[in-house]
Amino acid sequence: MRADILLGLQWGDEGKGKVVDVLTPNYDVVARFQGGPNAGHTLEFEGQKYVLRSIPSGIFQGDKVNIVGNGVVLDPALFKEEAEALAASGHDLRKRLVISKKAHLILPTHRLLDAAYEAAKGKSKVGTTGKGIGPTYTDKISRNGLRVGDLLKDFDQKYAAAKARHEQILKSLNFEYDLKDAEQKWMEGVEYLKQFQLVDSEHLVNKLLKEGKSILCEGAQGTMLDVDFGSYPFVTSSSTICAGACTGLGMAPNKIGDVYGIFKAYCTRVGAGPFPTELFDEVGDKIRDLGHEYGAVTGRKRRCGWIDLVALKYAIMIDGVTKLIMMKSDVLDSFETIKACVAYKVNGEEIDYFPFDINEGIEPVYVELPGWNTDLTKMKSEDEFPEEFNAYLDFLENELEVPIKIVSVGPDREQTIIRYVD
Ligand code: GDP
Ligand code: IMO
Ligand code: MG
Repeated sequence: MRADILLGLQWGDEGKGKVVDVLTPNYDVVARFQGGPNAGHTLEFEGQKYVLRSIPSGIFQGDKVNIVGNGVVLDPALFKEEAEALAASGHDLRKRLVISKKAHLILPTHRLLDAAYEAAKGKSKVGTTGKGIGPTYTDKISRNGLRVGDLLKDFDQKYAAAKARHEQILKSLNFEYDLKDAEQKWMEGVEYLKQFQLVDSEHLVNKLLKEGKSILCEGAQGTMLDVDFGSYPFVTSSSTICAGACTGLGMAPNKIGDVYGIFKAYCTRVGAGPFPTELFDEVGDKIRDLGHEYGAVTGRKRRCGWIDLVALKYAIMIDGVTKLIMMKSDVLDSFETIKACVAYKVNGEEIDYFPFDINEGIEPVYVELPGWNTDLTKMKSEDEFPEEFNAYLDFLENELEVPIKIVSVGPDREQTIIRYVD
């Protein structure tokens, strides 16, 4: 009986999809517990690249059970698109995927509200993915949401009432729209979704645990985007942290085993909001180019910067991380020196903790380490690592006080090195 959790520790896009796919053979079940199609999880293997949004990243590894938990928000139209694309490439999900009846539905009007609220915010907009995430979670918390289970009974009335309420708000915001095409696609998605196994997934999760099965819980977004502990208000609307796996799957905290915290060897962010170590110079451009730092779904340019250990330590504390995973090490292969932020300067005073507000006046304090100037991408074992890279790993482990168990040296499934540390 074990549920391990894999979480992003930065502002998302750390490489969660890749590592979930790599670790899936060690588990019986993979479960998503929050977020929705704002996520874009990339997997590469056998020369193919897949981007998953609502479907768990365990879907490609044999007959594992994949669960979309109650904490997820699901857009039937986008789900249909995603599942059909997978079916077309030979991956039929129907037997392997179960969806919680308690997962909330993203309505077409939620997407409109997302756009309308962003427009109303003007310069202070969040830079959302535009997928209706915020308005859907708002309806959930304000007890107005529609859930997957609602598709099975009196759905038309419930949908009409929700739509009418949303349209009133859109009108009050003077937001112009045309719903017809989107609504038609959405209704087709609803019919498609009904062919899947819609279950009370909290019962299933606990039954599987009782039978001794192991579960890997796949986080979306990252701890710095968490609605409580992230860089509020520039966050997403769900609990991206370790505790979110409990509420998002109906699983008690005493079922949690390892917590894998995943981070890039540097740092990125997409959308608006504070980013203390952001680079605006050619170094940032170089990281973006070498790391192909463009959104997996939207193609948006990701903002790039050095690793921020103040924020990482905070995330590790909130999530109770037991093992670290460092991604995209190869992106730093050709840097003479590498910087790591070890403290913030606020009003001239140096602090080493993550403060209430990082929106203004934070100046990163860096240490500089020698680069390794070596191609890591073909390495198969840590025995091959150059001295300077080992020194970087030692430095991070020393600062973060958690072992780095996995090092990723390229986007492919095979470019993953499991270290001996335990
Ligand atoms: P996720 O949202 O956390 O699953 O991450 P994304 O898929 O949005 O972004 C990670 C990107 O980095 C994807 O394009 C991956 O293919 C790629 N990637 C993952 N690991 C590595 C790595 O170690 N090196 C390089 N160069 N790319 C990687
Ligand atoms: P994965 O799972 C990176 C960001 C958006 C925006 C903020 C709020 O691929 O790591 P939302 O649409 O959720 O209301 O947007 O959160 N964001 C992500 N950034 N990776 C993600 O997911 C993200 N999901 C949302 O850019 O700043
Ligand atoms: Mg992503």
